[in-house]
Amino acid sequence: LKTLNYHNTPIYISESYLNVSNYLPNSDKTIFLVDEHVFHCDKYIFKSFNTIVIPSGEQQKSMAFIEELVSKLLDLGADRTYFLVGVGGGVVCDITGFVASIFMRGIKFGFVPTTLLAQVDASIGGKNGVNTGVYKNMIGTITQPEFILIDEIFLSSLPQEEIINGLAEIIKHACIQDKSYLNFIAQNLSAIFSLEKEILGSIITTSVIIKTDIVHQDEKEKGVRKILNFGHTFGHAIEKKYGIPHGRAVSLGMIIANKIAVFINKLDLSSEKIIKDLLENTGLPTDISQLDLQSLKELVFKDKKKSGSSFDFILLNKIGEAKIISFSLSQLDDIILQLQ
Ligand SMILES: NC(=O)c1ccc[n+]([C@@H]2O[C@H](COP(=O)([O-])OP(=O)(O)OC[C@H]3O[C@@H](n4cnc5c(N)ncnc54)[C@H](O)[C@@H]3O)[C@@H](O)[C@H]2O)c1
Repeated sequence: LKTLNYHNTPIYISESYLNVSNYLPNSDKTIFLVDEHVFHCDKYIFKSFNTIVIPSGEQQKSMAFIEELVSKLLDLGADRTYFLVGVGGGVVCDITGFVASIFMRGIKFGFVPTTLLAQVDASIGGKNGVNTGVYKNMIGTITQPEFILIDEIFLSSLPQEEIINGLAEIIKHACIQDKSYLNFIAQNLSAIFSLEKEILGSIITTSVIIKTDIVHQDEKEKGVRKILNFGHTFGHAIEKKYGIPHGRAVSLGMIIANKIAVFINKLDLSSEKIIKDLLENTGLPTDISQLDLQSLKELVFKDKKKSGSSFDFILLNKIGEAKIISFSLSQLDDIILQLQ
């Protein structure tokens, strides 16, 4: 068991979820919000707690579902003294953090993330929220959980596709912050896929440290936190337009960002290739030739990361070093025309 601390939130890595009661203020006044696939998996026991099962899928991240959830919490007798625990992937973490932040003006909560993506990314940083229309994470708060308990056992029931999705964010962490981490991932891909506990523990720890360090410097995303959006500007647009999973969309978003970085002479071709090869070896998509970059760009303009007439884009100078580059909309227009 390793314990990391940030923003007064302890993060327990390689801790058994069976010890979760040790971290609860009061088990009787705790409600677990559990992802349906985790709840129905014979491997895990969550059945002794007050539980609401959250159906799987991004479509639950809606205000309509949050209202439904509030009614269920009230039916279970929840009041201001209650505590929520989200057990699931990024969807359940986002929903739990958001509903806890607004229920009776805010109650405390913790996370037991059960996907690789949620363990290294979605559970960390305090951002939560739901979607509206086609726009992702448009409504939400930044509120930190009381604890995050990461148990690698959950990865044993996770479909391989979801491991691959999580690896997209892990590779992103390496790209923006740490070249030796990128090499480590490349050398240990097969150990990761065979869920070797030590390698997984090491990768989860490194990614959690990278994300928490960045968030700690800039919780409200005024500056450096933006680098965590590497690959996400186009990634979110791809996810929306083509309905493909987050990690796969982020992989394509990183490829587009790197092409732009090469185009404006920030990144060298050999670094671009190292990243592309690793994404490919991981099973992530890297071919952007079939994407309609023009209409993706339109979606990007509508995204929340646009500010005024300029546009912040995260590009790599080299592997391990990301920079926030401001483009005018017409500059980005020109570049996209060249790339297509
Ligand atoms: N708040 C943040 O900072 C942040 C960061 C990144 C992503 N996100 C959000 O996270 C979401 C994506 O998260 P995700 O990739 O974890 O998706 P997810 O929560 O939809 O989970 C993926 C699938 O795995 C299933 N599942 C979860 N745990 C399992 C387990 N242990 N065994 C078997 N099946 C399991 C789920 O039912 C679901 O079908 C998106 O909504 C994204 O916007 C948020």
